[in-house]
Amino acid sequence: PQFVDYQAEDAAISQGTVASNHTGYTGSGFVDYTNVAGSYVEFTVTTATAGTAQLTFRYANGTTVNRPMDITVNGNSAKLDLAFGATANWDTWAEQTISVTLAAGSNKVRATATTTGGGPNLDRLRVTGQADSTPPTT
Ligand code: GCU
Repeated sequence: PQFVDYQAEDAAISQGTVASNHTGYTGSGFVDYTNVAGSYVEFTVTTATAGTAQLTFRYANGTTVNRPMDITVNGNSAKLDLAFGATANWDTWAEQTISVTLAAGSNKVRATATTTGGGPNLDRLRVTGQADSTPPTT
């Protein structure tokens, strides 16, 4: 496939909740980081071979300030304080993309809120660029 989508509501969640009280999300909902610094969502991304991939996070941020998050891959910092800037409101979704290196097999991609506002509302992670990514069973 050209990309594989991983829904935030299906990922491992620490100090966040699955919500659906705003429109425009994909899947069955999104993750609300509950305004806690250190709250995170961790996706398990599987690839057949090691290589470069693009991680695209779909989010909403109905405030006027950034909701930065640290992105790690297998515990290693991939991008500190990725901005997750304001969207028009909580029903409006935007994307942020970074390029990372994935290992063959299972990878842990974690997005951790770094400020007291918590993270944005997180809808999904799209992984592009690994032609042989194995989709989750759907
Ligand atoms: C509002 C909004 C939530 C959001 C929260 C926040 O309460 O309805 O969806 O998660 O703000 O500040 O993060």
